[in-house]
Amino acid sequence: MRRIAVLGSTGSIGTSTLDVVEAHPDRLSVVALSAGRNLELVRVQCERWKPSCVSVAEEADARALAGLLTYKPHIHWGAEGLMACALHPEADTVVAAIVGAAGLASTEAALRAGRRVCVANKESLVVGGSLMLRALEAGGGELLPVDSEHAALHQLLAGRPLETIREVRITASGGPFRDWSLERIQAATVEEALNHPTWKMGPKITIDSATLMNKGLEVIEAAVLFALKADQIQVTVHPQSQVHAMAGFTDGSYQLQVCGNDMKHPIQYALLYPDRLPGPVAPYDWDQLRTWSFGVPDLERFPCLALAYEALRAGGTAPAILNAANEESVAAFLAGRIGFWDIAACNRDTLSSLATEPVHSLEQVLDTDHAARLRARTWIEKHTC
Ligand SMILES: NC(=O)c1ccc[n+]([C@@H]2O[C@H](COP(=O)([O-])OP(=O)(O)OC[C@H]3O[C@@H](n4cnc5c(N)ncnc54)[C@H](OP(=O)(O)O)[C@@H]3O)[C@@H](O)[C@H]2O)c1
Repeated sequence: MRRIAVLGSTGSIGTSTLDVVEAHPDRLSVVALSAGRNLELVRVQCERWKPSCVSVAEEADARALAGLLTYKPHIHWGAEGLMACALHPEADTVVAAIVGAAGLASTEAALRAGRRVCVANKESLVVGGSLMLRALEAGGGELLPVDSEHAALHQLLAGRPLETIREVRITASGGPFRDWSLERIQAATVEEALNHPTWKMGPKITIDSATLMNKGLEVIEAAVLFALKADQIQVTVHPQSQVHAMAGFTDGSYQLQVCGNDMKHPIQYALLYPDRLPGPVAPYDWDQLRTWSFGVPDLERFPCLALAYEALRAGGTAPAILNAANEESVAAFLAGRIGFWDIAACNRDTLSSLATEPVHSLEQVLDTDHAARLRARTWIEKHTC
């Protein structure tokens, strides 16, 4: 029986994780839940799962939750509460599903404590990749990716000697603006950017999918997880989102991973690995006539992808700078303060303005994150519509 702490339980990945647990009551159980501000949903989740440890973002919400529940778990709040869930002594598995760099410290702590950490919070791998690998080594636990492309790569590359891998390709649906002209993309609205064609996700990652920054973050994530160089990781546009990744070997052959596009699949894969149990996605229907297409991303219309490669090649704190700028610019876009095209401009300005240093500690990376946010906020102030 796996005993799971879900960090970000009220989000898109968090709720899908609980659906997977629901489907396998003999194999999976919940011992800790951490949410942000969605008090009503975390209340419902607590009543369903009766975790002994719960955390929310604010102290007032923690006190309110205590009054609403029909049982008495330990209720925490803020960064310390998140850490209490991540390090809950009864948990052997942690699902890191908080959005943004806010998930960094808890992911690192869970890895250092030797848990199986199922990482959806790609920002923690982008911002502190080398630190996460060090924590993994120190703790002796496991790191399993929850992103569909990286779960696909995990399936394709497991047990393969690195020298036999020529390249990997992760696929991108292309987002809602795949076929839009540059001029039209430049004037895109929040509503248009949130209208993702194939995936239903939280707002931040949905905007990242529209700019292709999500794919850029995934390229960096793949480099960390699979010890690959920037030139070995390519992006292929595949609007149907059925092939999630491809592995190209030195002898010229490729293997592809195919699965219906439902995040419950990579979540279940990570929770139950190496076992495979029925569900959560219906077996692929190969008898249904269909067409798949594959193409090359256009870096002129989607400059955020090029910025991610730039940051990966620069190494050190560059990915942390880019990620912080992107979190700020996406939040400003969602709040109606800047336009869609400004996201890339703000990210570019921030990345080129701050010096890149080798990564040596979590504190340094968090300082870099802070400095990059300040720089990005100044840029946003100057360009507010
Ligand atoms: N959604 C997908 O299909 C998908 C696929 C691959 C990877 N990912 C990655 O998975 C992560 C989560 O994505 P999502 O789409 O599930 O996001 P989401 O729906 O926005 O959910 C985010 C979760 O984090 C919580 N949270 C946010 N800020 C917090 C803070 N400062 N402290 C504590 N909790 C906080 C939220 O709580 P409240 O809602 O209660 O405020 C919520 O539970 C992201 O890193 C994303 O890139 C997502």
